[in-house]
Amino acid sequence: MTEPPASAPSPEENAQRKRDHLRLSLAGDIGFATTTTGLERLRVRARALPERELRDVDLSTELWGRRLAVPLLISCMTGGVSEAGPVNRALAVAAQQHGVALGLGSGRLLLDRAGGRRSMQLDRLPGFHVRDVAPDVLLLANLGAVQLHQYGPADCARLVGQCGADALVLHLNAVQEAVQAGTAGSSSPPGARGGDTDFAGLTERIARLCEALPAPVIAKEVGFGLGPADVADLLDAGVAGVDVAGAGGTNWARVEGLRDDRAGRVAAAFADWGWPTADAVREARGILDRHVRDDVLLIGSGGLLHGVDALKVLCLGADVAGVARGLLAAGAAGPAAAVEAVGVLSEQLRIAAWAAGARSVADLGPALLISA
Ligand SMILES: Cc1cc2nc3c(=O)[nH]c(=O)nc-3n(C[C@H](O)[C@H](O)[C@H](O)COP(=O)(O)O)c2cc1C
Repeated sequence: MTEPPASAPSPEENAQRKRDHLRLSLAGDIGFATTTTGLERLRVRARALPERELRDVDLSTELWGRRLAVPLLISCMTGGVSEAGPVNRALAVAAQQHGVALGLGSGRLLLDRAGGRRSMQLDRLPGFHVRDVAPDVLLLANLGAVQLHQYGPADCARLVGQCGADALVLHLNAVQEAVQAGTAGSSSPPGARGGDTDFAGLTERIARLCEALPAPVIAKEVGFGLGPADVADLLDAGVAGVDVAGAGGTNWARVEGLRDDRAGRVAAAFADWGWPTADAVREARGILDRHVRDDVLLIGSGGLLHGVDALKVLCLGADVAGVARGLLAAGAAGPAAAVEAVGVLSEQLRIAAWAAGARSVADLGPALLISA
C-alpha cells in the first residue's frame, strides 16, 4: 500500500468536510440544475381492482443471511464526527424497527485515525457503532474506492469487523474528488484541490479486494450514476453488488461547490452531469442479464423521493431501492422522526405494489410500468 501524498488533507480537514456535508445536505440547494431521475416519466400501471387484501402483500426478501421486510436501503451517509453519531443511531433504530437495510458513511476517518497502529483496534468514532440498536439489520460499511491505494484487504476487513457490518460498500466519486477544495472557506489557489484523483488502477485493486475480503463488496456512485461500462468492469472485478446512485437527486459537485468559491466555479459545469437514475438502473439490469448474473445485487438509488419512486426502480430491475438525503433530516431530528419517515416510505412502497396488483417482489417488473 502507498502512503497518502504529503498534500493530502489531514484527518481534521476530512472531519471538517464531513461536518460541512451534513450541514449543507440539511440546508443547501444541492440538486441538479435540470436533470431529473427520469422516474417521473414512468407511470405505474395502476389497478383499481388489486383483488387482494393489502396486508397480504409481502415484499420481504433475504440477503446475505439478513431478512428485509421491504427491499429498501437507507443509503450510506455519515460517520466519524460528533454530529454523525445521533443521526446514524436514529436511522439504525428506524432500520431495525421497519426491517430495512442501512449503510454507514465512509469509514476513512476510522482507518486514518488507526494510522500506523494497524494491528491495534480502530478508534471508536461516532456513527460507526450501531449494532446494539440494530442487531438484525443488513448493515453496510463504506469506504472510498480511491482509498484502496492506501488501505488493503486487511484494513477493509477490520473496518467491516469494527462496524459489525455484513458487507463493504466502495464509493466511486471521481467528479466529487476532482471538484473538491481543501479546507472549508480556504481561498485555495487554482489547481490546489483537496480531493484524491488517483483513480489509476482502481479496477484491479477492487478485484483484489473482492478476492481477499470474506465479506461481499458492493460498488456505488454517489449521485452521478454508474454507466453500463462501469457496471461491466465492476462485474469483471468480482463485486457482489452495484448501486447505481444515479443523477437527479443530490449533486456532489454542487455540495463541494458550496464549500469554496473556486470549487463552486468548477462545479457549475457539473450541475447536470451523469446518468439519470432510471436509465442507470435499466442499463445495469441489462448488463447483469446479459452476463446471466442474477447472483449480483442491483441497488437502484439516486433522487428517490418516496415509495412510488422506490417501486419504479424495483420494476426497472433493481433488487433493493436506496434513499439517502430524503431521510437525512428525519435522522437528524432523532429516532422518533426517523422511525416515522422510514415507516411512511415502507408503507408507500407496499401500497404502491398492492395497487399495481403485485403480491411479492417476484411480481415486480417492467410490465408494471408505462412510459409517459
Ligand atoms: C450527507 C450525505 C453524506 C454522504 N456520504 C456518503 C458516504 O460517506 N459514502 C457514500 O458512499 N455515499 C455518501 N453519500 C451519497 C449517498 O449515499 C447517495 O449515493 C447520494 O446522496 C444520492 O442519493 P440521494 O439522491 O438519495 O441523496 C452521502 C449523501 C449525503 C446526503
